[in-house]
Amino acid sequence: MRYALISDIHANLPALQAVLRDVAAREGVDATYHLGDLVGYAPWPNEVVEVLVTAGITGVAGNYDSTVATDYKHCGCQYEDPRQEELSHLSYAWTRAHVSPRTKALLGGLPFRIDIRPNGGHVAGPTVTLVHGNHTLNTVYVHQDRSDTFLEKMGVSLGARSGDVVCFGHTHVPWHRIVHGVHYVNTGSVGRPKDGDWRASYVLLDVTGDSVAIQVVRVEYDVDAAAKGILASELPDDFADYLRQGGAERATTAPASHPAGGS
Ligand SMILES: [Fe+2]
Repeated sequence: MRYALISDIHANLPALQAVLRDVAAREGVDATYHLGDLVGYAPWPNEVVEVLVTAGITGVAGNYDSTVATDYKHCGCQYEDPRQEELSHLSYAWTRAHVSPRTKALLGGLPFRIDIRPNGGHVAGPTVTLVHGNHTLNTVYVHQDRSDTFLEKMGVSLGARSGDVVCFGHTHVPWHRIVHGVHYVNTGSVGRPKDGDWRASYVLLDVTGDSVAIQVVRVEYDVDAAAKGILASELPDDFADYLRQGGAERATTAPASHPAGGS
């Protein structure tokens, strides 16, 4: 089985369309799942949700999805500085004001976690687990510099065994690491990358028997169209520059601890 895993689309319709075209052109993909954060920061929340529904793509609830759906007091984001906090509040307010009742209901209906058994549930593994942040909260940032001990505890806690695959997003930076036989895969972000590369990120996951292969794919998209959409909306103009730079500011200043991320 070959899966495409797409996360953190964040209402960026041009990026989502480019990724889905790339997936379709590969022809070998059996199923596509999203890992949440469908909305926020760009002006197409309803359109993104409709594209996913039309394509039959399901997935898990990101922090942005669950907070918009429940009218939570804030987006569940963390902040690096007062300006970023202000921008996050503006994005959250704009998104809550512009999601349709249908979109809100669809976001509210997303499960927190999905487990997939590519070889069927009649055999033990491998199991592929999809969450947004981690298995306890969709607001936990599992950054690349998390220790092996942190990842091992996470794997044990969610029931992963050697050979299994644990997939998540939320940090907007893709990476893959194996700890005690368990694959930990961050798929990066389709619509708001933060690693200094503006191209959309997603993951191709191949499971053949017990063997697992992971490939991070980067896809060029019409970032100018996305930027124009942001500039034409009442969203902060900063978000257009952020897309063009691939969140370079965050990537070049990332400290060793685990602050923020903004979404
Ligand atoms: Fe996100």
